[in-house]
Parts: sequence; structure tokens; C-alpha cells
Amino acid sequence: MNQKYSINQIAKILNISTNKLRFYEKKGLINPIRDDNNNYRYYTQEDLVKIHMILMYRALNLTIKDIKNLMENCTKNNIINHFYNQWEVINDEIQKMRLIKTSIEDIMDSIYESDEQNYTTNIIKSAKKLSKIQKIKENWEDRWNFDSWAKTYDQAIKEDTGKLKIYKNYEKILDEVFKKVTENMKNDIKVLEIGVGTGNLAKRFLDKDYNIVGVDQSRKMLNIAKEKFPKLKLRLGEFLKLPFENNKFDCIVSSYALHHLNDIEKNVAIEEMLRVLKEDGKIVMGDLMFENERSRKEILANFTEEQVAEVKDEYYSSIEFLKNEFGKHSKKVDYTKIDQLNYIVQVY
Ligand SMILES: C[S@@+](CC[C@H](N)C(=O)[O-])C[C@H]1O[C@@H](n2cnc3c(N)ncnc32)[C@H](O)[C@@H]1O
Repeated sequence: MNQKYSINQIAKILNISTNKLRFYEKKGLINPIRDDNNNYRYYTQEDLVKIHMILMYRALNLTIKDIKNLMENCTKNNIINHFYNQWEVINDEIQKMRLIKTSIEDIMDSIYESDEQNYTTNIIKSAKKLSKIQKIKENWEDRWNFDSWAKTYDQAIKEDTGKLKIYKNYEKILDEVFKKVTENMKNDIKVLEIGVGTGNLAKRFLDKDYNIVGVDQSRKMLNIAKEKFPKLKLRLGEFLKLPFENNKFDCIVSSYALHHLNDIEKNVAIEEMLRVLKEDGKIVMGDLMFENERSRKEILANFTEEQVAEVKDEYYSSIEFLKNEFGKHSKKVDYTKIDQLNYIVQVY
């Protein structure tokens, strides 16, 4: 027979107050049966499991509204979305705290190391830098709507319908990125792919038993990648807010992704990548770019209006820019030209 519990028994088992149980009932999260004779509440074993789940969701900071929604529409996609929401809130907080901590460290160093006048200037500088970086991190948005592209992305690559034919060497580029990482690194390394999309580059690492985790800002892209490669570890995240601790990865890879950030965002992304990369780690990225500003002008001058518009819809980088920016962090950049617009850069 299905066991029944009184409100006091449930409160004792789960170590919560009876008020809380009444509150969850009032909010429609649980619906205990009433005894015909004395109208007391009775809870079934299913209720017990439900309340346990509610407590777990509350511990994870989910709102009552979210919990209700979750329990009513308990599909896999729905649940992952709720946890993705939580994941984003927590990661944003960690990012903010980390920035504030670094800023305070800078200020404390400057108090010790500079004279009175300089350190007040340094405090103001540090506060300004903090709020500037915070804004850049918060303001990036997916104006290309990758969620809407996820289902047809692989087909779109094959058809390569754009005017620039940027995907004509797609497979070769992904192979080359994989080769450049693996030719002198063993497979016990930790690899991070940023902008993993539908998982086509990560697959190469997965097939050879590399420890790889893919990050993408598009939940739908992540869903497709997971459907294609159930063993692939995936995390929701952005170039500007990587959901990992410092110095975790031996290698970062990426393909066709960095050009969705403008130059200012790229600088913050570079700092963020170097934060999660080990001191002697390596970055290998295949992406759309030019060699330098002169060649950008020359190439664009020979493009049709539609081709120019396609280039300008995104933020193609240049080897010159990347050398410069990574150089500021004492990193070297080597590159291989694949075609007119596609390059592979190695940072070490
Ligand atoms: C053109 S697709 C490339 C996907 C995959 N790397 C490939 O080569 O097929 C760009 C991917 O980068 C992701 N992306 C773009 N900007 C991003 C950002 N700031 N942070 C994380 N992912 C980003 C998009 O969501 C999308 O999945």
C-alpha cells in the first residue's frame, strides 16, 4: 500500500517547517490529499519526492515560478533550459567577483608600491577599467541568432550558399586545426573548444580520445552537438565569460567563431582565453581574417557590393591585429594561410 505521511512527519523527514510546506501548497507546487474525516493533510510518497525536488531547486536558487514551470513541463529540454538559466546567473556573478578581486589586488599593490598621489590616481584608473570591462562583457549579443541557425547549420556549410564561399575549405581547416594541436601534444591534455557549434571540430578530438569540452553561447547549437555526439562534454558560455577557473586548459581551439566579436571584444576575449589557459598552453584557431589592413583594403576593393556587405556583417580580424594584441601578453602568433579569407593562427 502507498504510504501516507502527515505534515509533521514530512517536516521531520525533510527537516523543514510545516509553514514552508503550506507555502509550497499555496503556490500550487504540491497538492496533498485531505482526510475525509478530519480534513488533515496527507502526503504520498510521490509528494515526498516532489518536495525533495523543490528543496533541491530552491537550494539552486530557482524561483518558485521557475520551479512550477519545471514541474509542470518536465521534458528534458525544459529542464536543461532552467539549469542553463541558473548556470548563466552563477557564472555572471563569478565573472563579476573575479574582476572585482583582480581590481582590488591591483589597488592594494599600487597602495604599497606608489606614493600618495599616484595611488589615488591608480585607484580611479582601476575602477574605470573595471566598469569598462564589465560593460564589454555584459553587452556582447548574438545578432546573428545562431539558435535559429542550429538545425540547418551543417547543411548550410555543405551548400556554402553565401557570396564569399567561406566554407569551401571547411573540412581542411578543421583537419589542420586538429593536426596543429595534436602533432606535438599527447592526448592526455585538456582541450577547450570555444564556439563549438554543432561539434564538427570537437568530433576530431573526441574520435582520438582527447579530453575536450566545447563551449557555445547558443543553447540550440549545444543541443544539436549533444544529439550528434552524446559523449561530448558541453557547456553554455561565451568567449568573454568562460565558465572555467584559471589555468585549466593545455590548449584552446576554435573555428569560424572569433569573428563574431569586434576588436574591443576580441581584446577582452584574448585576456579571458589566456586566463583559462595554462602558462605554457597553446591556442589554435581557424578563422576569417586578412593579413593586415592594407590587404583588407585591396581585397575588399575587388569584391562585389554583396561580398563587401557579407564581410562587414561580421568582424574579420587580421594577423597583424592578433600578433599585436597577443604580443601585449608576451605571446607569439604563427599563421598559415588556407585561402583568401581563411587563416589558421597558433598562439604560444
Ligand atoms: C559559424 S559557427 C561555427 C561553429 C563551429 N566552430 C564550426 O566551425 O562549424 C559560430 C559558432 O560560434 C558561436 N559563437 C559566436 N560568438 C560566440 C561567443 N561570443 N561566445 C561563444 N560562442 C560564440 C556561435 O553560437 C556558433 O555556434
